[in-house]
Amino acid sequence: MNTVLAGLGLTKKYGSTLALDGVDIRVGEGDSLAIMGPSGSGKSTLLHVLAGIIRPDGGSVLLRGQHIDSLGENKLSALRRRHFGFVFQSGQLLPELPAEENAALPLMLEGVARRQAVERARRWFAPLGLEGLELRRPGQLSGGQAQRVAIARALAVEPDVVFADEPTGALDQRTSTEVIQLLTFACRETGAALVMVTHDADMAAHCDHVLHVRDGRISHHSQYTVT
Ligand SMILES: Nc1ncnc2c1ncn2[C@@H]1O[C@H](COP(=O)(O)OP(=O)(O)OP(=O)(O)O)[C@@H](O)[C@H]1O
Ligand SMILES: [Mg+2]
Repeated sequence: MNTVLAGLGLTKKYGSTLALDGVDIRVGEGDSLAIMGPSGSGKSTLLHVLAGIIRPDGGSVLLRGQHIDSLGENKLSALRRRHFGFVFQSGQLLPELPAEENAALPLMLEGVARRQAVERARRWFAPLGLEGLELRRPGQLSGGQAQRVAIARALAVEPDVVFADEPTGALDQRTSTEVIQLLTFACRETGAALVMVTHDADMAAHCDHVLHVRDGRISHHSQYTVT
């Protein structure tokens, strides 16, 4: 397996809570990985550590073999912007911006001019079923549509890894299935790896691998053959 992202011996403590207790994890190029486990087991902490949002107390995170934990704050946030895409539970779109500009935002932050950024981000609108919604503001979109805009935004920079924390947590079952299918499809199309936290086994089943986390440790790893 061509490892794109690895976490080795990750530990993270909050006071007396051991949120991560020695986690080893590898994500292959273009792989999709679901992280499941009970509430408070450390799933979000693991995702945030892998994404360079939280620094671990121990262990390392490597992106294509490069240690990201030793980078300074500016280099780390530049690396996050260039190499990672994010989809959270409820899109976290900016309410005052139209959908196409929300999707183009990571490119604009990278210095791409607004027009080109919007043009590039809009390429995802048709495959994600968002045609005609380019100028709507988030308040004028359904939950599922807003999550699809968040997917377009996550993919805009052609990231190495897309991180998703409960991306369908606020959606009904049918919309969730549509969003997961589009998310996994879009990651496969761009070759991005996907690391997704979910409570929902049906959503996890759309990923190539499932890691089960309990008390900050990986309790087991299962592999699906379904694609
Ligand atoms: N910023 C923080 N300060 C203190 N404790 C924290 C913090 N973040 C997480 N924790 C604790 O670390 C443990 C793991 O939390 P985490 O958010 O990773 O769980 P989770 O598996 O994502 O849960 P959920 O399914 O409820 O989202 C929990 O006991 C939590 O209370
Ligand atoms: Mg969580």
